[in-house]
This record gives sequence, C-alpha cells and structure tokens, in this order.
Amino acid sequence: MAKATVQGKSPSLAGDRSVTVAAVVVIIMICALWSVTNPWPGFTTLLSTPNTKFASKCVTSRDCAGDLRHDPPETTFYDDPNLSYTIEKPVKKWDDKRRQWLKRHPSFAAGAGERVLLLTGSQPSPCKNPIGDHLNLRFFKNKVDYCRLHGYDIFYNNVHLHQKMRSYWAKIPLVRAAMVAHPEAEWLWWVDSDAVFTDMDFKVPLKRYEDHNLVVHGWPKEVYEKKSWVAINAGIFLIRNCQWSMDFLEVWASMGPHTPNYKKWGQTLRSTLKDKLFPESDDQSGLVYLLLKEREKWGNKIYIENEYDLHGYWLGIVGKLDTFAERYVTMERKVHELRRRHAEVESESYGGLREQYIEEGGNNSSWRRPFITHFTGCQPCSGRHNPSYGGDSCWIGIERALNFADNQVLRKFGFVHSELENSSAVSPLPFDFPA
Ligand SMILES: *[C@@H]1O[C@H](CO)[C@@H](O)[C@H](O)[C@H]1NC(C)=O
Ligand SMILES: *[C@@H]1O[C@H](CO)[C@@H](O)[C@H](O)[C@H]1NC(C)=O
Ligand SMILES: *[C@@H]1O[C@H](CO)[C@@H](O)[C@H](O)[C@H]1NC(C)=O
Ligand SMILES: *[C@@H]1O[C@H](CO)[C@@H](O)[C@H](O)[C@H]1NC(C)=O
Repeated sequence: MAKATVQGKSPSLAGDRSVTVAAVVVIIMICALWSVTNPWPGFTTLLSTPNTKFASKCVTSRDCAGDLRHDPPETTFYDDPNLSYTIEKPVKKWDDKRRQWLKRHPSFAAGAGERVLLLTGSQPSPCKNPIGDHLNLRFFKNKVDYCRLHGYDIFYNNVHLHQKMRSYWAKIPLVRAAMVAHPEAEWLWWVDSDAVFTDMDFKVPLKRYEDHNLVVHGWPKEVYEKKSWVAINAGIFLIRNCQWSMDFLEVWASMGPHTPNYKKWGQTLRSTLKDKLFPESDDQSGLVYLLLKEREKWGNKIYIENEYDLHGYWLGIVGKLDTFAERYVTMERKVHELRRRHAEVESESYGGLREQYIEEGGNNSSWRRPFITHFTGCQPCSGRHNPSYGGDSCWIGIERALNFADNQVLRKFGFVHSELENSSAVSPLPFDFPA
C-alpha cells in the first residue's frame, strides 16, 4: 500500500518526503480572518475587527468553543440531499453556504476567522513494524498535547474515505470531507502521523496568511527554478475552508489514483520534475506541478513558508535536541518568571513570555526549538525506511523527538524525562528548576 519513499535531498534543504500510509487526522483550531473574497458586511466586520465585542470575548480558541447544544430549525446546506462529502462531487458556492451556516450559529461565528481544525491519522489495519502502533499512539499523543495546550480540537482518521486514494493521497478526501463537516473552522491543518510538534509553545502565525488559502513548507526557488519534487513538503499544510480550496482539492486530486489519467500523470510529473525517481503520480509532485504550470491560477494564494519549521527534516534536528534543551534551560536560569510553576491552561501566556527571550537570544533557527520535526522517509508503521538511514536511527530519532516534546508537557505535571532516549524513566522536577 505505502510506496517506499525515494529520498535523497540534502538535509539543509529539509526536502525530504514522507510517504505516510493512509492516515488522516483532523484538528480544529480557529483563528483566521474571514476570507478577503467574502465581502459579507455583517460578518466581515465581526470577524476581522479584533476590537468588536464579539471578537474580544474570544482571545484564544478555547474561549470560542461555541454552543454545542444549539441547532436552529432553519435549513442549511446540510439539508440539501445533493450535498456530497466526497472528492468526486464538486461543491458550489461554498463560501455562501458556510457563511449562512455561521450566521445561523452565532456562537461559532465568534472567532470563526481564526478557528483551526487539526487532522491526522493512520492506516485502518495494524502496523507491520512491531513498535509501529506504539509509535503511532505516541505521535498521536504528541498532537493531542499540542492541541490541548492551545485549545484546539483534533480529529484522527483511520479509514480510507476513498478506496482508491490511499497512502499519501488519503489525506485529500479527508480534508475535503472535513471542510464540509466543520464549517465553523476557517483552517484545516493536515499533519502527517510521523510529524512531531517539538515546540509546544509555538503557534502558527495565521495573520501572515490572511491573503492566502494554502500554506505549505518549501522554497520558491526550488519550485520555480530547480523544478524539484522536494521543493515543498505536502505532508503538513494548512488550507482555508473556502470555495478556492474546494476547487483546488478537486484539481489536485485529479492527478490521483482514482482517475483514469493516473498513469499518464505519473509520466508527466516525472518528465517535468527531473529529480522525481519513482513512476507513480504522488500528491507532492502534483502540488509542485500545479505551482509551476498553473501559477497564475493558484500560485498567488499559496504561501510557501520557510521562516520556521512547519516541516523540519528530522535528520538535521534529532542530534541537536540536547543542545536546544540546554539553551532553554540557560535562558530560564536567568529569568525567574519563566521557571515559575503554573497551571497547564496558562501555558500559552508563558509561551508568549518566553518568546521575547528567544528573540533576544538569537532568534534564529539554530537557537529556536524546531516547531515540527517530520520523520520523512522513516515509515514507522511499515518498518521500512530509506536505506540511507542506518540501523535504528529512525526509531531512536523518533523516541528522542517525542521525549523532547513530552518534557515540555510533563513539566507542567511536575516531572521530566531525564534522558531523551529512555521513554520510561521520569523523575520529579525540583521546585524553581533550573535555578
Ligand atoms: C439535485 O440534483 C439534481 C440533479 O442534478 C437536480 O435535478 C435537483 O434539483 C437537485 N436538488 C436540489 C435540492 O438542489
Ligand atoms: C527576531 O524576530 C522577530 C520577529 O521576526 C523580530 O521582531 C525581532 O526584532 C528579531 N530579534 C532579533 C534580535 O533579531
Ligand atoms: C543564531 O544563534 C546562534 C546561537 O545563539 C548563534 O551562534 C548564531 O550566530 C546566530 N546566527 C545568526 C545568523 O544570528
Ligand atoms: C530506562 O529507565 C527505566 C526506568 O528508570 C530503567 O528501568 C531502564 O533500565 C532504562 N533503560 C535503559 C535502556 O537505560
């Protein structure tokens, strides 16, 4: 089912590629401005003006939970028998439909512009790798922890919503269904199962993407000049819940295995992207291809991010985790406020406080904890991995990253993994650590 990954880009490019087995997770966060293409005066004002009464009630996503017990009798798009959640049946006028739903559900309209749903998942059957399911559980725990700390919802999928769209294509039908299932969410955030949040404090700067509908990690030069299939990483992306995205997903999916042109797409992609070595059409190459060939149509709404690790290539990270930890400890030794014990729900405010010292401390990627560490090429579930990764390096790296992240969580429970490579060993954290 999962195709062996073809790897082989320099670590500095972080241009590796994960082939995540049919898995899909959805998290809901909320937090972006209403799409600029939606000049609906009432809500536009409501959603884009931080100072309105409504919006100010809603400082974090947690405050904007919405009324879970209310569904008014008036009909919405859900009452249309022609509405489909599947990728094959296009949805039209989605922006209007979504807006109308929000109007009928005002408790969700508050904060809707910034609400995010995180999606992730894994294959329907047990992993072949004996530790694969355990690792998947821990990968999921890491995402749940991140979402809880920031007041986000999360959805974990482990079925194929489209029988033919498996492996790395499986996320597209999931994202499509999630858009319809979650009109209250402005952004859907797909995160591959083998990606670890290694900075629990960092928040995606949604404001930066106000004028964009798709955010993906990558390097524009590698796309437009080198035409490389690893110029971006499609294993982690944010996509706005809007008509543009409905249309885009349809076009993107049309290169996938459920279409009669699948084989041909494989050839086209391989001849366009010279460093693509395997014959099948894959989602990531498809995305690069659309950027290259239909730049006018899609490119101006796609934000290629590389100022922080929305996708950080694991090989360049796992060996430095102890150094990152030490730098943060040094920082906390100097600032009493940063090491003050606090409730877990107060974490975001301490994250904000820490930010100022990170900026003073150097403010660059060699200093800051990587946001997301992505184990591209490792395939923890199947147990196969890119042969260039020697021995157990994938599994050891994963354990280190998971424990590094877990330390940021456990700390608020008063404990710490003293060694990143031993998941079972924890010790209590002394008061005022690390004074
Ligand atoms: C559903 O689609 C059919 C066929 O396209 C059309 O005839 C019908 O009017 C549609 N129903 C609604 C409620 O839009
Ligand atoms: C660090 O980055 C932030 C945001 O990009 C910027 O505002 C700040 O001035 C930078 N600090 C240093 C010391 O470069
Ligand atoms: C980034 O931070 C490191 C560690 O503090 C420092 O040695 C390095 O000079 C910084 N690089 C830049 C470009 O600021
Ligand atoms: C990991 O920690 C546990 C509990 O402290 C200990 O029993 C075990 O021997 C350690 N394993 C290794 C490989 O050090």
